[in-house]
Amino acid sequence: MAKVKSKWVCTECGYETAGYLGKCPECGSWGSLVEETQISPKDIKAQDEFINKEKPELLKDIQIGEEVRISTNISEFDRILGGGLVQGSLTLIAGDPGIGKSTILLQTSGELCKSGKKVLYISAEESASQLKLRAQRLEINSDNLYIYPQTSLESIKAQIEEVLPDVVVVDSIQAIYSQNVASSAGSVSQIRECCNILMQIAKSKNITTLVIGHVTKDGNIAGPKVLEHMVDTVIYFEGDKYKSYRMLRSMKNRFGNTSEVGIFEMHSNGLKEVKNPNELFLNERSQIAVPGSAIIVTNEGTRPLLVEIQALVGTTPYPSPRRVTNGVDTSRVLQILAVLEKRVGLNLSKQDVYVNVTGGIDISEPAADLGIALAVATCARDVVVDSQTVIIGEIGLSGEIHPVNNIEKRLNEAVTSGFKKAIIPYANKIDFNKIEIVPVKRLIDAISACVSKG
Ligand code: TYD
Ligand code: MG
Repeated sequence: MAKVKSKWVCTECGYETAGYLGKCPECGSWGSLVEETQISPKDIKAQDEFINKEKPELLKDIQIGEEVRISTNISEFDRILGGGLVQGSLTLIAGDPGIGKSTILLQTSGELCKSGKKVLYISAEESASQLKLRAQRLEINSDNLYIYPQTSLESIKAQIEEVLPDVVVVDSIQAIYSQNVASSAGSVSQIRECCNILMQIAKSKNITTLVIGHVTKDGNIAGPKVLEHMVDTVIYFEGDKYKSYRMLRSMKNRFGNTSEVGIFEMHSNGLKEVKNPNELFLNERSQIAVPGSAIIVTNEGTRPLLVEIQALVGTTPYPSPRRVTNGVDTSRVLQILAVLEKRVGLNLSKQDVYVNVTGGIDISEPAADLGIALAVATCARDVVVDSQTVIIGEIGLSGEIHPVNNIEKRLNEAVTSGFKKAIIPYANKIDFNKIEIVPVKRLIDAISACVSKG
């Protein structure tokens, strides 16, 4: 028998020590040390027994089985998954507590059962009767839905192997624990071990697995990023808790597109899909043009969305002016402000600038630059962008407007929502007769092309 020595290794930074420590002295993270066993080299016997006899295959000779997709019957969910759940894959749904993760997955389970799939819902946080109450509220009534309130991974594994469902839902990964790991449920090593075992079951038994993960205050899936590397698909469930709509956003997808968003609204009987999100984002907008407002067409995933950017610019009472953003990257806004000062001559050095994206959506793509710049410029100069105009374009450091992708799609979306005019990058100039197109080369041209006195 080989002699086994153990050491503790930090999963965050790789620090090694002989004994367990709650906090890593190297990187300062808590609960990240996991035990690793080592066999000393002189004790290692013939390695042959460990060698797998399989040989590498030529790429051209590899046969691929057809990718089987299971539709969830919820089209917004299917779309962000890239056309449904891939059989045998493991998907992580992450989000703040109370955002609606259990609700969407119980609804999905109900829909899957309707199409004849056998679903095992492992509830590690709520009791069977709590789940039954929720199911009644969601009007789920199925003969194929098994509920298993359990926190022990070993028992869960045994039941999955016995029930052999088509789909397993684990609610949540932070609440289950394995006997093989010494630390408590929710610690990094537990999460890693549990996810690993679930992954093995999913792959070996070809069972589609959906796992819920809570997000910490700083926005990470608790059990830092460990899970994201392991799973096939990561979907974030986000939204403003004070508003009724929620967004599912795909962050990693081994079988499809990322950065897709699916939009839902929370009702008293569950989440309902929002088929036309533009109505949702724009319906609170004032129909009369006001300084500091611009409508952009952002392209989240495969679907363009119309979103309003608002800016407020005013003389600062503070020694150094404030820059506050909500829904857009602050450093991007700082760059746009610098371009406005240098290339347009807008003096913002004594002005506070607030930029807000209405509707609680986060915008990361640079095609929103021009909209942000115009919202700020119109507010600073007390002029307005016409309320029937959409703004599309990325801004370069010399004040030039760079082209954006999918321009036709964005313009079509603007037409559908009743807009009459679009300011677009010159390099994107296309023949499009459904609305008036104003191609611009420079930021300063865009400002003179669309603003009028408010
Ligand atoms: P839940 O799915 O329990 O959140 P999570 O699993 O992400 O922690 O949903 C929580 C909230 O949703 C809760 O505050 C109640 C509300 N809700 C509704 O408004 N309508 C419904 O039909 C359901 C089931 C929940
Ligand atoms: Mg829950």
